[in-house]
Amino acid sequence: MADSSDAQSLEQAPVYQPPSRLQTGEGGVPVAHIKSLEEYWTMYEQSIRDPDTFFGKMAQDELSWSKPFNQVRYGDFKRGNVSWFLDGQINVSYNCVDRHALTNPDRVAIIWEADEPNQHTHITYGQLLEEVSRIANVLKKYGVRKGDSVAIYMPMVPEAVYSMLACARLGAVHSVVFAGFSADALRDRILDAGCKILITADQGKRGGKTIQLKKIADEALGACPSVQRVIVFQRTGDPNVPFYPPRDVWWHNETANQRPYYPPEPMDSEDPLFMLYTSGSTGKPKGVVHTTAGYLLGAHITCKYVFDLHEGDVHGCMADVGWITGHTYIVYGPLSNGATTVLFESVPTYPNASRYWEMVDKHKITQFYTAPTAIRALRRLGDDFVSSYDLSTLRVIASVGEPINPEAWNWYYTVVGRERCALVDTYWQTETGSHIISPIPGAVPTKPGSATLPFFGIDPAVLDSQTGQELQGNNVTGVLAIRSSFPSVTRTVYDSHIRYMDTYLKPYPGYYFTGDGVTRDQDGYYWIRGRVDDVINVSGHRMSTAEIESALILHPACAEAAAIGVPDDVTGQAVVCFVTLKPDITQDENTIRTAFVSTIRHHIGPFASPKRIIICGDLPKTRSGKIMRRVLRKIAGGDVTLADLDDEQALKNKLGDLSTLADSNIIGSLVKKVIAH
Ligand code: WT7
Repeated sequence: MADSSDAQSLEQAPVYQPPSRLQTGEGGVPVAHIKSLEEYWTMYEQSIRDPDTFFGKMAQDELSWSKPFNQVRYGDFKRGNVSWFLDGQINVSYNCVDRHALTNPDRVAIIWEADEPNQHTHITYGQLLEEVSRIANVLKKYGVRKGDSVAIYMPMVPEAVYSMLACARLGAVHSVVFAGFSADALRDRILDAGCKILITADQGKRGGKTIQLKKIADEALGACPSVQRVIVFQRTGDPNVPFYPPRDVWWHNETANQRPYYPPEPMDSEDPLFMLYTSGSTGKPKGVVHTTAGYLLGAHITCKYVFDLHEGDVHGCMADVGWITGHTYIVYGPLSNGATTVLFESVPTYPNASRYWEMVDKHKITQFYTAPTAIRALRRLGDDFVSSYDLSTLRVIASVGEPINPEAWNWYYTVVGRERCALVDTYWQTETGSHIISPIPGAVPTKPGSATLPFFGIDPAVLDSQTGQELQGNNVTGVLAIRSSFPSVTRTVYDSHIRYMDTYLKPYPGYYFTGDGVTRDQDGYYWIRGRVDDVINVSGHRMSTAEIESALILHPACAEAAAIGVPDDVTGQAVVCFVTLKPDITQDENTIRTAFVSTIRHHIGPFASPKRIIICGDLPKTRSGKIMRRVLRKIAGGDVTLADLDDEQALKNKLGDLSTLADSNIIGSLVKKVIAH
């Protein structure tokens, strides 16, 4: 990101015009929904000036209601009582399944691409309606009612999608827990949400490896008295997988005996649809709550306009359904639009680095969505893995999760997009539910590294982080906040509205605070600069330093720990931990480091594994005892050399003011440790 962060390089950033074929329809491609920058601005300005008319019309035109709403919008960020489409009734599952199944039962809803490259299945909308209904009936049979929470801990199989849509169908609130999370993390999430039912699988498959989902779930459930029933989908059929009736029931036995229709429950617009846990500045993950109509509208219209989705499109979002990207852009957005969505069980490098491109070619994918970390990793492996495939069906290629550096952008644009696709860098968060800043393919010129301009209804403000004052005009840098509510913004944190207010709405009263730094350049384009809080973003996976520290401290050898994020060429950021040991620890450092890594894997999950653990005598602290993370970040990032240690001025230039440091000798020993390690 370094090359895109100073004002001068932003001024010189190249500009790419939208591909003309999207504006003209040349070569038989569908003409974009929004064909010019003027058209975008006209719609955008209306969405800000008169959101009631704009979103009222969108909601009526794009969604199917069982009872029309009476009022478009109520409440605001000041009071934390945001609500949309009041008094309306709607069912998300009906919108994503029935309305397409009833008119086009044979249209393909899901293409499931299994871990093994030669295996894939098509599921039509007609079949989807039957499968969703069967599992909805099973849930009903086991006592799930409107408003109950259901935990879903599943691999990337169609049954994960059926489960989510079945919850939506009967009004249960799903809490999908990413299958890479550990037993402890799963347990905490089930307990927090008070889930009655867990839906899981015997095992998962990923990149040729087997994940012991049921075993992990059993470990978690040992401490979850609220869970009365576990529905187990058989992915591999391994006979050694533990199974404990009557608590455990098999998915295939249960669904086989149920009617393939279940009437969709009319839900109030503001009823919760799902919760999804995400990391914030503290150790405890938050259950971000999304509601029914506003979320669905956000998912639907961003999918339509940001991916320029048209009838017959095959939407390839490579995320996992365990994250918000999977919720919105594998499940709810594409299905609400009646598109075909790709569900990919594997990883981009299995069995080799052509996997994505072979899939685009085979399934004729039209929109392809992945993260910068995957693009950087594939770029390193060379163009040969891409060049022999027919990627001519692609119209929009997209990026999400962290800022995409210009080198990766250019490679994606040229080698994958072949300079004929729009590349959209989509900025959003778990909390926003859908894209908030992103180019529109046929309309907005792009600059590599910038998420460009706000989506409809998003009114961004750049604030001075200290004073909270709005920085007016262009060429300003500060923190990113949103001025007024939009349909898909999170309404609360599950069972913790105070935390919701404290995290998002109180830091800058009247605004929603994103937690990201931002620059608005001379053209009004937004450049996201990464988190300004203690959140680390590794390969687009969000975690908090406090969460990692809380895990480390559980190990008996750990006295104190500080986790920080350092820049990494492939993963964006990587976790580095500084740890001090308790007295009388006699094991060698390598053994202890290995034990610390497994502690983190055990309490959070493998994806949170630190890149380095530095065992040190002490941590740099202020006189009042606060750990000086900024100093650790610089030292871990290799900014300080041995020569700097004898040069007070150089040290000051690199580490900033050290006058509050309690023990100044500590810097030297830390630098030596980092270099020696
Ligand atoms: C954080 C949200 C939303 C989907 C995936 C992550 C960072 C996300 C971008 C982007 C720069 C980005 C931000 C944000 N982020 N997309 N296009 N450019 N930064 O969701 O786990 O809720 O993380 O990811 O820092 O706050 P999440």
